[in-house]
Amino acid sequence: MCNRLQVRGNGPIYARLQLQGSKNGTLPCMAAALLHSGTTVLEGVPMIADVLTAAEILRSLGASVHIRDHCITIQAGQLTASDIPRDFMGRMRSSVIFMGALLARCGETGAVSPGGCVIGRRPIDYHLDGFRQMGASVVQKDDRMEVKGRKLKGCVIVLPGPSVGATENLMLASTAAEGITIIRNAAREPEITELAQCLRNMGFGIYGDGTSEIVIRGCNETVDSVYSIPGDRIAAGTWLLCCMQNRGELVLDYAPVESMAAVLQVVQRMGGEIHTEKNRITLKAPDRLKPIDYLETAPYPGFPTDMQSLLLPVLCRAEGSSCIRERVFSSRFRTVGELEKMGADICITDGGQCARIRGGCRLHGTSVDAPDLRGGAALIIAALGAEGITVINDTCHIQRGYEQIPETIRLLGGEACWLS
Ligand code: EPZ
Repeated sequence: MCNRLQVRGNGPIYARLQLQGSKNGTLPCMAAALLHSGTTVLEGVPMIADVLTAAEILRSLGASVHIRDHCITIQAGQLTASDIPRDFMGRMRSSVIFMGALLARCGETGAVSPGGCVIGRRPIDYHLDGFRQMGASVVQKDDRMEVKGRKLKGCVIVLPGPSVGATENLMLASTAAEGITIIRNAAREPEITELAQCLRNMGFGIYGDGTSEIVIRGCNETVDSVYSIPGDRIAAGTWLLCCMQNRGELVLDYAPVESMAAVLQVVQRMGGEIHTEKNRITLKAPDRLKPIDYLETAPYPGFPTDMQSLLLPVLCRAEGSSCIRERVFSSRFRTVGELEKMGADICITDGGQCARIRGGCRLHGTSVDAPDLRGGAALIIAALGAEGITVINDTCHIQRGYEQIPETIRLLGGEACWLS
């Protein structure tokens, strides 16, 4: 896989893009396929590194996985293992949600602590406490966790915070629990509803997804199913912000309009004109961009933490100062140092939780390192709006979540090629 990308912007964007399927929707649905010994088909899947890693995890467990034209067919007839191999846990944090599915299917699972983007503390205590409350035993030694529970029991689990991953993991595990499981203070992100719909198609009873109380009822006979993954709301936000950075007009097809209210509102606050239809967003970017005096990230339906790094380069060109406070993760401004190399003037305050962005800056191309997935995508936005050529190193982070990166940049009117 290529790891260095050269990018040059060419001014205003006039483009129409077909959005990729949702990364964070696809991964839990792939884990869910382990709950059924027949066939589960997922359509509209993005061809990105994290999906390929998830496919490798499934194969390592004995499932067969066939990928063709954004469609994945998974057959999990006979599993041969219940442990998630160390390498995959290190590569991708979402590997952890295979634990809930394996616990349900095999009555046991084991793994080391998950890796993934370095964006602050990312414990999994809510996940493990939830397994315990369902009656599983959890043993942790060094970095290894072993979870066993052949007879899980439905119960009421109150999450200390609305964690997306913990909600997904506990939904998956509780499909095998006797009786009903209720998850309170559950995450309300659209990806939870995506997993719930996929599980319903398989025959499980899931109610209340999209609210903070989810009820799960297992079933004895799962069925073959097909689920179509919606468009990726964070990728949609990424390309909209590219257009805001460069001016012009962008049409996004296959966009999950309903789950993007907070992001579209921010684009409008900056002066963008938005028009939405059922699955389409049209943006006309302003010539003069208004700053955002204050914005904080929050769990859904608030402004997504995944979008805040993407906003930073855009606010560098706003006419005035902006302030963004990160309230979900403890350390998610690592891309600021890279943007500073390109001429950004951003000051991090409040113990690393707040970024104050001075507007009116013209960024210039240079060599930068992608610090994580969304921070890396922020560098693409910056590079497209910068004067000259930018070389982005460590793009493996970006390829975890975005497909066809140089091709998309070219569709947006920019120039992009991989460097050896
Ligand atoms: C999911 O991560 C997403 N990843 C992240 O997107 C996203 O940023 C995040 O949700 C928040 O929306 C996937 O869906 C694969 P959390 P997740 O558990 O599930 C604390 C991207 O770029 N917490 O909701 O790991 C945690 O420390 C990725 O696509 C605990 O304390 O996030 C954090 O402060 C990056 N204990 C907060 O909750 C736990 O057991 C929210 O984390 C679990 C979480």
